[in-house]
Amino acid sequence: MEIVNNPAQMRQMAQEWRAAGQKIALVPTMGYFHAGHLSLMRYGREAAHQLVVSLFVNPAQFGPHEDLDRYPRDLERDSSMAREVGVDVLYTPLAEAMYPQGYQTYVTVEGLSRGLCGASRPGHFRGVATVVLKLLNQVQPHLAVFGEKDYQQLQVIRRLVKDLDVPVEIVGRPIVREEDGLAMSSRNTYLSPEERAAALCLFRAIKAARELVLSGAKSRESVLEAVKGMISATPHTNIDYVALVDPETLEEVAMIQDEARLALAVWVGKTRLIDNTLLSESRLCCV
Ligand code: PAJ
Repeated sequence: MEIVNNPAQMRQMAQEWRAAGQKIALVPTMGYFHAGHLSLMRYGREAAHQLVVSLFVNPAQFGPHEDLDRYPRDLERDSSMAREVGVDVLYTPLAEAMYPQGYQTYVTVEGLSRGLCGASRPGHFRGVATVVLKLLNQVQPHLAVFGEKDYQQLQVIRRLVKDLDVPVEIVGRPIVREEDGLAMSSRNTYLSPEERAAALCLFRAIKAARELVLSGAKSRESVLEAVKGMISATPHTNIDYVALVDPETLEEVAMIQDEARLALAVWVGKTRLIDNTLLSESRLCCV
């Protein structure tokens, strides 16, 4: 595995691979790998000749009072995990190379970025869309793999590549969870033992919502009430949002007709956790 931090060198390698007819997969990350990241890498490993994993804690997607400075970092651990999965290139550009002096261009995916996490993190998806477009231009992958854990992010990126004619296939992969159901996240390391226990209420609420829908509940009120009730009854928690949305437009739906996405963001102590699930009238979903 090679570690590359220079964008020009990265692009040069990508051009050579493409000239040799090789298929390139990119998995964009901010590092501090867990099994969720590794599942995306394994998918990319199977799907392409060359697998690039980018590791860049992107300042442009953090708000002024967010956790950019304390975001967990461990390059040594990350490189050995990536090597084990068979990553070809770990791409670790520096902030100065991504946003050099004079940088002034940003991409906004308008409607999809507005609600849910976009409402409580203004500018977040502008930062995400911008960095992802830059990474796609630098690595020139045939496919890029993202997790459904960040469901709104996935939809924003699908829209971005469609609207701006970026020639890449976007692949969405299921949420990987801890054994007890907590969605894996680099931010889970912030949780104290009591908060870690409280954090389980997100998955418990998701499971309850799935069961409610399978037993015939269809209205938004019935689902949201049950979810909010379970979370508010848990100590250390504070709901940011609980929403039932159309899986593609992310607009709120009044009734579950066939399928809807339940999305939630909850503060557990000082850590903001997100989770989501597909709610289907006819299928028992597993992620
Ligand atoms: P990061 O939070 O490091 O996540 C990198 C990728 O891993 C994202 O596609 C995310 O959805 C996926 N992922 C995280 N937790 C997961 C889980 N439990 N199961 C499955 N996939 C999971 O998301 C970002 O970084 C950044 O916003 C980025 C896209 C890299 C742009 O900076």
